[in-house]
Order: sequence, then C-alpha cells, then structure tokens
Amino acid sequence: MKIIDLTALWIILMVGGFILANDIEDGTIFLERGNPGILSCPPVASGQIPLDQIEVMYWYSPVLRDENILISYFLGNVAPQNGIPEGQYDINGNFSLVIENVTDSDEGTYYCRVKPRLRALVDGHVAMRVKVAPQKPFPDVTQCIQRVSESECEVEWSNDIKKTNLTCIVRDTKPAVALRWLLEYSDGGTQLISDRFTVQLSEFSVNTFTTSASIPIVASNVDKYMYRCQAYGEALGARNGSHVTVTAFYTLQTSHSTSLQSNTAVTVMPRLDFTTEVHDAPEGSQNDMIGPTDTPDGYRYAFIATAVALCLSLAAIVGLVIAVCKISRRKPEQNEKVEVQ
Ligand SMILES: *[C@@H]1O[C@H](CO)[C@@H](O)[C@H](O)[C@H]1NC(C)=O
Ligand SMILES: *[C@@H]1O[C@H](CO)[C@@H](O)[C@H](O)[C@H]1NC(C)=O
Ligand SMILES: *[C@@H]1O[C@H](CO)[C@@H](O)[C@H](O)[C@H]1NC(C)=O
Ligand SMILES: *[C@@H]1O[C@H](CO)[C@@H](O)[C@H](O)[C@H]1NC(C)=O
Repeated sequence: MKIIDLTALWIILMVGGFILANDIEDGTIFLERGNPGILSCPPVASGQIPLDQIEVMYWYSPVLRDENILISYFLGNVAPQNGIPEGQYDINGNFSLVIENVTDSDEGTYYCRVKPRLRALVDGHVAMRVKVAPQKPFPDVTQCIQRVSESECEVEWSNDIKKTNLTCIVRDTKPAVALRWLLEYSDGGTQLISDRFTVQLSEFSVNTFTTSASIPIVASNVDKYMYRCQAYGEALGARNGSHVTVTAFYTLQTSHSTSLQSNTAVTVMPRLDFTTEVHDAPEGSQNDMIGPTDTPDGYRYAFIATAVALCLSLAAIVGLVIAVCKISRRKPEQNEKVEVQ
C-alpha cells in the first residue's frame, strides 16, 4: 500500500514537470521532550502556499532523500513511510508534522516538500532541538527558607554571620539555562552583579543540565538592597527571564539563652529590617555587644578541646623530661662498665 502511494505520488510529481522553486528555512524550533510536538512547513506556514491547493506533501528527516521520508500526504490520505509504525508521526490540518512523543533522538533537521496544484514543488526545512523545561518553581535560591510568591523569597540570617553566599539554581533543563544576579532597588531599578554561572549534568534526569550561580553577600549597610536572580534560555519558553527576588532578614541575637537555642527557634526570633538594625546597632558596637557568652557552641567546644590538648601535651612533656633524666643518669654507668671490661 505504502509503496503504491509513493509510486503514484512520484508520477504526479513528474507529470507536474516541476522545478524546485525555493527552500525556505524557519530557524530552530524547540520542542518539549515527552510531549507531542508540531513542526510547520515554512512555505505553508508563511501563507505562500494556500492549504487548499496542496495535493501532495512529504516530510523527511534527517536529510531530503527518498529513504528518509517519514510520512506522506497524498490527495487527502496520510501514510507513514519507510516502515515507520503508525502513530509516530502525523500530518495535521495545517500540513504541519506532528511528532507524537518527542524524544532526544528526534533532534535534527526536518524537510518538507509540497506540490501545490498546477505549480512547481516547493521545499522547506526547519531545525528541531529538544527542550526540557524545569519542573519545579524556578529559579530557586538554596538559602531561602520560604517562597513568599512565585517570584519572591526570604532568607534569614543570624546577625553574627558577616559573610555568606546566595546560590541560585535551575535544575534539570535542556539546553542549560543562563543565570544572572542583579541588585534590585526599591524603585524597581536593577544593576548587574554577576552573569557568571556553572553548568553540570543533572544527576536524576537523563541528558539535562543544572545551572547554578553564587554571589558573596557581606552583611553591611549595603544589604538594604534586594537581590534578584534571573534565568534565561530556550528551555524556559514563554517563561524566559523568570526571576526570584531575595529579601534578607537578620535575626536579632541579644542574650546567651537565644544563642543556645536550636535552629528552629531562630525563625521565631524577632525580625529586624537591616536598615533599622544599622540605626540601632552599627557594626562596630554590635561586635562589642557579642560577649564571650554569645560565642557560638562550636567555638566553645573548640576552646575546651584546645585546653584539654594543652594539658595533655604538658603531661607528655613532663613525662619526656623524666625519661630523658633517667637515660642521662644511666649513660655514665654504662660507660663505666665498658671501661671496666
Ligand atoms: C514518550 O517516550 C518516552 C521514551 O520512549 C516514554 O518513556 C514515554 O512514556 C512516552 N510518553 C508517551 C506519552 O507516550
Ligand atoms: C492551524 O493553524 C491555525 C493558526 O495557526 C490554528 O489556529 C489551528 O488550530 C491550526 N489547526 C491545526 C489542525 O493544527
Ligand atoms: C561562597 O562561594 C565561594 C565560591 O563558590 C566558596 O569558595 C565559599 O566557600 C562560599 N562561602 C560560603 C560561606 O558558603
Ligand atoms: C530571553 O530574554 C532575553 C532578555 O529579555 C533575550 O535577550 C533572549 O533573547 C531571550 N531568549 C529566548 C530564548 O527567548
């Protein structure tokens, strides 16, 4: 049946006495992996060939050769070619190629060849690349304790942290997205901080990439600004340029008891806008306020460990001195014996 279709088609094409008028290209189209994808034929999509005048159409990939015909349209009948099973491709009412389930191996160039009534053949081609959009809300800032809205999140730091990083991440996309960090002013203006990012192969999703970008943050009065991480790329489609704005809060630590509480208690502690905090306690005086009782547990343990280590080494030195004394006393005895013998 398929072979008959093809033969009939070629007879029509020959009788038509065609010349290849042109080959219209239509850039690169990104189709979502695991979904149906549609590729339109450029001369048809542009309106150069009216739909009702199309008698014959072929879709080819990866090259324009008979043995690469995927599917054909012939006077109203659509049929897969070259042994391709039914249901893998289709030609829809707009003479676009439908790939029923886009996979990585479908990437490549697709050619369409159209024979309009009483006109020469027209070819077109389109480059197709597979994309994988991120599944979760993105971009994500790893230090964020909660997302306030789709594009806002909050980071909370205890004010004994003077330096830290903000890390923005977009997981499992194809192709990899690009990230940039901006400073966001209250009037909505922005200023680029960094457009550097790193890309790694994703661990859990085949053939996808994870992009991350870190910026160092120093707790100072500059921190009254908000930080914006913005993501760009073909993988994001209509959500290209999506961003998240990070607002940093500093928790107030005043007494010994609060510093001993666990991390869960930290979120309950009173919150201060950093600007207010600067008025209340400039960085210098803040440092003065943090007495030895406010030293974090880690430092306290380190101190105890150092003291124990010092005692132990003192004991070792004393032992060593005693041992050396005994040896130096014995030596002359041995010498005497030698002399005697
Ligand atoms: C699409 O193809 C992939 C890979 O072969 C398969 O895992 C998935 O189930 C398919 N999806 C549909 C909707 O058929
Ligand atoms: C054909 O294209 C038009 C406009 O682009 C669209 O509205 C319509 O849904 C398409 N029809 C089919 C069958 O794809
Ligand atoms: C911040 O990031 C830099 C570079 O990625 C890293 O070397 C440093 O250890 C990070 N600092 C903190 C506090 O995480
Ligand atoms: C995404 O948006 C940026 C800035 O708006 C633009 O320069 C870029 O071309 C866009 N990329 C894609 C793939 O749409």
